[in-house]
Amino acid sequence: TSDHLRHVDSMGTLPSGTGKISYLNAVILGDSLASEENDLVLPSPEFSSQALIPSSDKYIEMYRRSIVDPAGFWSEIASLFYWKQKWSDQVYSENMDVRKGPINIEWFKGGITNVCFNALDRNVQAGLGAKTAIYWEGNEPGQDGSLTYTDLLERVCQLANYLKDIGVGKGDAVVIYLPMLMELPIAMLACARIAAVHSVVFAGFSAESLAQRITDCKPKAVITCNAVCRGSKVIHLKDIVDTALVESAKNGVSVDVCLTYENQSAMKRETTNWMEGRDAWWQDTVPKFPTTCDVEWVDAEDPLFLLYTSGSTGKPKGVLHTTGGFMVYTATTFKYAFDYKLSDIYWCTADCGWITGHSYVTYGPLLNGATVIVFEGAPNYPDPGRCWDIVDKYKVTLFYTAPTLVRSLMREGNEYVTRYSRKSLRVLGSVGEPINPSAWRWFFNVVGDSRCPISDTWWQTETGGFMITPLPGAWPLKPGSATFPFFGVQPVIVDDKGTELEGECSGYLCVKSSWPGAFRTLYGDHERYETTYFKPFPGYYFSGDGCSRDKDGYHWLTGRVDDVINVSGHRIGSAEVESALVSHPQCAEAAVVGVEHEVKGQAIYAFVTLVEGVPYSEELRKSLVATVRNQIGAFAAPDNIHWAPGLPKTRSGKIMRRILRKIASRQLDELGDTSTLADPSVVDQLIALRDC
Ligand code: PRX
Repeated sequence: TSDHLRHVDSMGTLPSGTGKISYLNAVILGDSLASEENDLVLPSPEFSSQALIPSSDKYIEMYRRSIVDPAGFWSEIASLFYWKQKWSDQVYSENMDVRKGPINIEWFKGGITNVCFNALDRNVQAGLGAKTAIYWEGNEPGQDGSLTYTDLLERVCQLANYLKDIGVGKGDAVVIYLPMLMELPIAMLACARIAAVHSVVFAGFSAESLAQRITDCKPKAVITCNAVCRGSKVIHLKDIVDTALVESAKNGVSVDVCLTYENQSAMKRETTNWMEGRDAWWQDTVPKFPTTCDVEWVDAEDPLFLLYTSGSTGKPKGVLHTTGGFMVYTATTFKYAFDYKLSDIYWCTADCGWITGHSYVTYGPLLNGATVIVFEGAPNYPDPGRCWDIVDKYKVTLFYTAPTLVRSLMREGNEYVTRYSRKSLRVLGSVGEPINPSAWRWFFNVVGDSRCPISDTWWQTETGGFMITPLPGAWPLKPGSATFPFFGVQPVIVDDKGTELEGECSGYLCVKSSWPGAFRTLYGDHERYETTYFKPFPGYYFSGDGCSRDKDGYHWLTGRVDDVINVSGHRIGSAEVESALVSHPQCAEAAVVGVEHEVKGQAIYAFVTLVEGVPYSEELRKSLVATVRNQIGAFAAPDNIHWAPGLPKTRSGKIMRRILRKIASRQLDELGDTSTLADPSVVDQLIALRDC
């Protein structure tokens, strides 16, 4: 059994707390403000009594079963979905140990199903046809729309028929480059219906990044819109796609169809650049197709989607998720972590361009028959009260967001929050990076009026769904801790040598044995999958995160331990930014590190060595930043460019980022041993130039 299970077994139950948890600082939700670092925030008896998992006893019972009998536990849950044909007797098979051969994970193999059918047809058949599936809120207050489950099914079928008509079939890739319009989840579901593999690219990525992804997955079609308003800015997405398609064609990948939605509030079709023969207006073509479309039934292990994410080295990786396990896992985690009830109105502020929007805007909630909000605009437009305006407008009960948004709104003062009622809110959620206790308390005390538990969900693009998360109603919370593993998840904390640490400890976060939502490979590069995730600590999946466990068994995520930088919850590889910088003709070398940032969590800090003879200038600094914007996207732009006559390297030529991180964060008395550097004087030069 896992360390966590042993720990869970030795713990007491709530609320008497006879076990290891100390209740000295405990507050009951709604009774008092969460204020101290070591507060335990207990669910109120009213909340717990109505919760799906009403006590730690219930959690322990279910968790225990999920670890002792994963096959039984997950097949019971999977049976709640529609399967055209049930999976084989073996519910799952896995090899997560590189020493025993290729890494291989399968769940519900042989089972025949379809995720779109389960999210839409099944819910309509169950009587939810007239229920609102999506409320859409545009950039401007007052711009809105909605679709019932029946409407959504019809729209999805029309697009699915269109895609089939242009020749998209099972296993073909479709790239989706759309902002948060209803057409984005529609496009994802239409692909799922016909077993095409969608690859959504966040519409903040540059043409170059889009081209790179198109080149890698070779889509049959690209789906986009002509433009989008973000706050007061208009962004011409179709132009970005046009440039990307020219670029990918140079790499030998030409795309035959570019389906373009006319986003009239942002741009009229007359002013949109057009390529006859390739481009088609969504509004002119899709509505002509029938509103019913047969489902393409697929094996549980057939691919559902690809999503590119950043690693510490090299180009972005295409994380591949398959059908059955992802469906069962996202739906189940959604249900329990948010204590979902049919009457809930759910809003996740993430964009569908990231994994959160896949698992917890589109699939998880719709599989549960939930009503979701899709918000196109910016949370601080027209003012920083917009989120709470939307919460009141739609009577949102479950609100899921990122710490960076919490911190940025916290800076604007409580007035923007308290002028709205927020009475409907029931559960809050956080994702993307560790939430610092002060932001947690503000979210809890001010936004949630000390009434609503916060589910701080730790997970990753690779994990498909929540891995470590509170289950509101079951456990006391600690501000800043993601608490305990979800059912079936066995987190372990290991030291440098891969030895599992017990009890109170701190180290690298790994996971022992598979869970249904796990990614199955990196598209076209299974070797990189094994090397990155399974070789560092043989026998385990390695997350890339640091973590500590406290005396009560709570997990505290401490951030990435590799060269991945987390800016506003967006994952950026230092190598990608470095390669963008060195593509600038005047840049000879670059090294990029993350530094702490009050709102963004981390900011990008770049050390740049210029080509011999090129002088430093403000203009050059701007042009370097612009290069990163153009090559990756605005969200990856460095906040700092630090001129570097040389970089600290070992004698074998390896850049010592540890030293660069200390210089960037001005911790000059913590530089450590610099004697192993090929040229230790480089460090003094860097320090001298730090404010230039
Ligand atoms: O470092 C962890 C951080 O985000 C990384 C995963 O990023 P991505 O694949 O883009 O997925 C983001 C949304 C799931 C993790 O390796 N992270 C995510 N959630 C948390 C977190 N760190 C601490 N606490 C969290 N709740």
